[in-house]
Amino acid sequence: MTEQHAAAHPQDSLAASTRAVVVGRPGREQGAPVNPPVVLSSTYVSAGIQGPGEKLYARIGTETWEPFEEAVASLESTELPGVVLSSGMAAIAAVVSLVPAGGRIVVARHAYQVTLGLFDDLAERYGTTVVRVDIDDTDAVVAELGGADLLWVESPTNPMLEVADIPALVAAGHEAGALVAVDSTFATPLVQRPLEMGADVVVHSATKYLAGHSDVVLGVVVSRDARIVDAVRAYRTLHGAIAGPFEVWLALRGLRTLALRVERSQANAAEIAARLHGHPAVVDVRHPSLPGDPGHERATSLMEGYGSIIGLRPLGGADGADKVVDALRLWVPATSLGGVESSLERRRRFATESLTVPEDLLRMSVGVEDVEDLWADLDAALRTLL
Ligand SMILES: Cc1ncc(COP(=O)(O)O)c(C=O)c1O
Repeated sequence: MTEQHAAAHPQDSLAASTRAVVVGRPGREQGAPVNPPVVLSSTYVSAGIQGPGEKLYARIGTETWEPFEEAVASLESTELPGVVLSSGMAAIAAVVSLVPAGGRIVVARHAYQVTLGLFDDLAERYGTTVVRVDIDDTDAVVAELGGADLLWVESPTNPMLEVADIPALVAAGHEAGALVAVDSTFATPLVQRPLEMGADVVVHSATKYLAGHSDVVLGVVVSRDARIVDAVRAYRTLHGAIAGPFEVWLALRGLRTLALRVERSQANAAEIAARLHGHPAVVDVRHPSLPGDPGHERATSLMEGYGSIIGLRPLGGADGADKVVDALRLWVPATSLGGVESSLERRRRFATESLTVPEDLLRMSVGVEDVEDLWADLDAALRTLL
């Protein structure tokens, strides 16, 4: 499954921040709308015998999906349109459906907990072998690749923020005959483009940064391999994991400001991480921007930024972390991430979270508010522990 297609996109000469704004607009005819319309129709008038490309039924395809699929593909550097699905998990399930029953999957130990849950379910029901690895330990990953059908990379990982050496893992994965998939949700295509590093397929929970406003649940798959795109599209049609047109329209509207949001939230995150480092109420802080962070060097060479998620362990263990969450007035206590609003949660409040995630770890999603307001709220909450 590694047939690669040329990366050329007609708008490739434009900067990514420009493409986020312009790709997927209607034509420039006088009187045309600037934005693609939302088409709310489950079915289409038939021309009798269906012609090529004719719209048929909204589970198979709608014109409201297409501009978003084109725009994400452009940002991820492929000329093949992306495939939008009803959630990030639907996108992941679609990619994982490429693994034969009884196959072998090597997966990041700290991938999103529900991704791991899906893989465990496959192991139980279809005899799939699932091997969990430390994705930032390239040698340890390579040692498990023999006979693998799929290497599932997540980078940076949720919530431990490990950074994978994607080019090295792609080379080793392909040598072993495995499909290499990357969940690039935390990075966004503005910060990391795994297809350019040779990965076969990339998924995003578009719920997070791509849509960016905590108002939709969506997923998207992109690849340079037409067979993968066709298979994921067929999965979507067969399993009915389709997105509503209005949700996709909202996601495209959100995508238009991706560059602004990522730039601001990354800058906020780096500033806050630097201030947390050495704070008297902090035991540990993880953000790849910090020079001492285990992911710093790799992120500096492979990514165009350090992302907007911080891992924080305050004084006082899980109780201390819960106290911080309770004391905050501006940061929103909520699961999910990647919205314009700053939010956080203690991940081990979920019984299903990996036991190797520290009990006191707060995953903080830094938004686009004024950094001084965010800091004042966080500093005051942390000081309740002293
Ligand atoms: C890294 C990552 N991948 C996938 C998902 C799943 O996405 P969704 O909630 O849109 O199904 C999430 C959700 O938190 C995530 O953080």
